[in-house]
Amino acid sequence: MRVLIVDDNQTNLILLRRLVEKIEGCRPLVFSDPLQALMEASTSDVDLAVVDYMMPGVDGLSFIRRFRSFPNGEDVPIVMITTAEERAILHAALEAGATDFLTKPIETVEFLSRVKNLLRLREAQNRLRDQARELAAKVKTATRALAAREEEIILRLSRAAERRDDGTGTHIVRMAALCRLIAEGLGLDEETVHTISLAAPMHDVGKIGVPDAILLKPGGLDSEERQAMEKHTEYGFEILDGSNSELIRLAAEMALSHHERWDGTGYPRGLAGEDIPLSGRIAAVADVCDALASERPYKPAWPLEAIKAYLIESCGSQFDPRCVQALLKRWDEVQSLYASGPPPLTAAA
Ligand SMILES: [Fe+2]
Ligand SMILES: [Fe+2]
Repeated sequence: MRVLIVDDNQTNLILLRRLVEKIEGCRPLVFSDPLQALMEASTSDVDLAVVDYMMPGVDGLSFIRRFRSFPNGEDVPIVMITTAEERAILHAALEAGATDFLTKPIETVEFLSRVKNLLRLREAQNRLRDQARELAAKVKTATRALAAREEEIILRLSRAAERRDDGTGTHIVRMAALCRLIAEGLGLDEETVHTISLAAPMHDVGKIGVPDAILLKPGGLDSEERQAMEKHTEYGFEILDGSNSELIRLAAEMALSHHERWDGTGYPRGLAGEDIPLSGRIAAVADVCDALASERPYKPAWPLEAIKAYLIESCGSQFDPRCVQALLKRWDEVQSLYASGPPPLTAAA
């Protein structure tokens, strides 16, 4: 263990050094200049400090105060050495953060037993700190593993739902990437951006509840069929609602609101403007953008320029203008998303 010794008197310094060397496993770091000692303590860990009260320049009290202000000096035991037991000085030293005192002349037995006790205390502190760090690292790893598992299950569930009308499953991955671009463009914090892009693949999970005859029907739907199709928003919400997971709750919100329109003519609730949850407004732009860019049995893939024009034209009617602007800001990345071919299905973000 490293013991810092600070005393302007060379004779005392030599004596203290010898005493500390007697303790097994102890290394004395000896300084006659308190400023140099402070420099050492501020840049490296010490386990105990023994400091003289009377020193020119920086006295024992201000040494202790400065030592205690270092991030690694908060709980290091400090022994102050005084010439006499002056109450006022002792009180001031306690207030400054001293742990213990010794009076001159130093008695070997007393010094050794006090220092050994304090080092044992320090050892226990160090052990506790190491255990706490280890535990924190384990919790972090376990939390990450849990989050990764949650993310994987979500992606697989979304793929299962998507498989019924898009065998490739690329829509959900691209849609998640577009949601990320929009959320970033809106200046949302990184954690929210991440959660939105993870929740996005589940937006159409409710299609599981739409009969095949309607979901897979080529050509247009009559009004009854369209109503049945529109139910996928509510089915999705029912599937995902009530979770303890913030991610699944957001996914439920997105599933319910991704077909709402800014002007209030969307479904299922006909919400307008900012009454539509932001996640739903983001998903609406991303979903339509990718649907237009994809080839479907009833339509060819639209060129990106035409999609851009459509998004601009639908600002304030179908879409939240801020979400469209956020995506337009990142249009280069939209182009590379489609230029690079189908995205890998392993990651949602
Ligand atoms: Fe949908
Ligand atoms: Fe979709």
